[in-house]
Amino acid sequence: MSTSTAIARIDLVKRPSRPPAALTARQAAELREEREPKPFLKWVGGKGRLLSQLTPLLPPGVARMRHVEPFVGGGAFFFARSPARALLSDVNPDLIGTYQAIRDDVEGVILNLEILAQGHSKEAYYGVRSDYNASLGDTSTERAAQFIYLNKTCFNGLHRVNKRGEFNVPVGTYVKPRILDEGALHAAHRALAGVEIRCAGFEALVQDARPGDFVYFDPPYEPVSETARFTAYAQGGFDQDAQRKLRDVYRELDRRGARLMLSNSDVPFIRELYSDFHIDTVAAPRAINCDGRGRGKVAEVVVRNY
Ligand SMILES: C[S@@+](CC[C@H](N)C(=O)[O-])C[C@H]1O[C@@H](n2cnc3c(N)ncnc32)[C@H](O)[C@@H]1O
Repeated sequence: MSTSTAIARIDLVKRPSRPPAALTARQAAELREEREPKPFLKWVGGKGRLLSQLTPLLPPGVARMRHVEPFVGGGAFFFARSPARALLSDVNPDLIGTYQAIRDDVEGVILNLEILAQGHSKEAYYGVRSDYNASLGDTSTERAAQFIYLNKTCFNGLHRVNKRGEFNVPVGTYVKPRILDEGALHAAHRALAGVEIRCAGFEALVQDARPGDFVYFDPPYEPVSETARFTAYAQGGFDQDAQRKLRDVYRELDRRGARLMLSNSDVPFIRELYSDFHIDTVAAPRAINCDGRGRGKVAEVVVRNY
């Protein structure tokens, strides 16, 4: 007996032109309303709940600086600030392709996401995942819509790829996931207008940063326990050598006169790495034990050079 999951295919459109379809009253109201930008993806490590503690730590005159974020992920801090000038980067090419598509062709992303949302089912999920994995390296609008669809419907919004770079997260258990939020995508599009968006490792910044930049680093955190370390590194996580290289980049950018802010977990290794700089502690509300039932506050550090 075969145990493989049945899959269903959904055809996307290559050159979308938006049909003058009648909008529902809710959609029309959403489009009229200029929403505040916020992350359009579920992203592990999102900074949403820490914003009120990070904002008072921004440097004086930050409104005139370029906002540089080399581990952009879901971009919670970037969207909350919506700076006039910004450079965003991340090592994840699919994430970056999606940001670029939202900046350059938000209507195409929305139209394709609408098609995917209408056809959503467990079988369709596996069809989209398979089409998505067949177009690795492509940076099209269709692929960006598939990326958002998978993010909204997969198990826990996880992003995990195998050695070949194929996305392999199973379908989630949401009854009615909100796949398309047009207002949020338009708001993200407005915030991303004119923003430079690059796929790169954090080291690439050294070439580019200058006085007048405000750089916010939110790297994968140093694990707080041996079990967490084992899980993180087994998944190709950021090890202690990577944390040391990041500290070297931080020192170099400090020397070049940029204003720097970095988040990480509050562990002796990180405090030691950044002992030459100002370290504040903030409390992040989140699950603290492995079954997720215990909720409490976990300390994080914010390292600043000003
Ligand atoms: C903690 S998340 C960032 C969360 C983000 N600030 C938010 O609010 O959603 C870390 C990000 O670092 C990226 N990353 C991991 N290793 C990297 C590297 N060597 N260079 C640049 N980005 C990297 C991951 O792809 C991930 O998106």
